[in-house]
Amino acid sequence: MKNRKVVFANQKGGVGKSTLCILFANYLAAKGKSVCIIDTDLQKTILMQRRKDKQIYEGEEEPYNIQDFDVSDVETMQKLVDSASEVDGFVLFDSPGNISEDGLAPLFVGADYIVCPYEYEDKALDSTGVFVQVLNVLREHNPQMTAQLFFVPNRIDPRIGTADEQEMWRRTDEVFGNFGKVTPVVNSRATLKRTNTYELLGTQRDAVKKAFEYMLRRMK
Ligand SMILES: Nc1ncnc2c1ncn2[C@@H]1O[C@H](COP(=O)(O)OP(=O)(O)OP(=O)(O)O)[C@@H](O)[C@H]1O
Ligand SMILES: [Mg+2]
Repeated sequence: MKNRKVVFANQKGGVGKSTLCILFANYLAAKGKSVCIIDTDLQKTILMQRRKDKQIYEGEEEPYNIQDFDVSDVETMQKLVDSASEVDGFVLFDSPGNISEDGLAPLFVGADYIVCPYEYEDKALDSTGVFVQVLNVLREHNPQMTAQLFFVPNRIDPRIGTADEQEMWRRTDEVFGNFGKVTPVVNSRATLKRTNTYELLGTQRDAVKKAFEYMLRRMK
């Protein structure tokens, strides 16, 4: 299976990086694809989730591997990216909110895809904008960087917004559309709060299917 390195990132905290990373892994595993996660976030959200799930799903085989990695320096990160390139299938990286952290650059430069969840909320949009600028600077300095960007509007209130809100959402998508692909939205759903590292519930699949299929079609 072709190697694909997919980094979930946005310097804005709490936008759904870890959640969408686990859901995408579950989605791929359910499709029979080979996948693993590398948890580079200091918070270790995904590793801790797996530890919890292990007790609940006692005795069941883990559907995919989750590996721990602490970001330190550029050289060590480069080694990680190089070895991830040898893996068959999808290697998903959950990244820390603080992207100015030293040592992260090789991850973005070496990624095939960067998945950036964002919310329609002023503060979130500002930090997402900063994140896009950081990636652009990285691109300028690293011509070998080829990562394609996916912007995932996440935690969207499915009620139709006011005319002003809709206009703001449309303009936001237009701006991000200049830097990458804006996927179909992922609504705010209680079922996504119950994301675990063993299985994808039917209701969860329904919530992410459009966005994930959109990305997968472009990850050929
Ligand atoms: N579509 C959604 N619907 C409902 N809840 C969601 C959705 N996406 C994420 N959440 C919830 O939002 C919270 C933050 O999500 P998550 O931890 O994935 O964000 P993060 O970007 O990884 O945060 P951090 O920057 O701290 O790493 C979690 O409680 C998660 O369950
Ligand atoms: Mg996280």
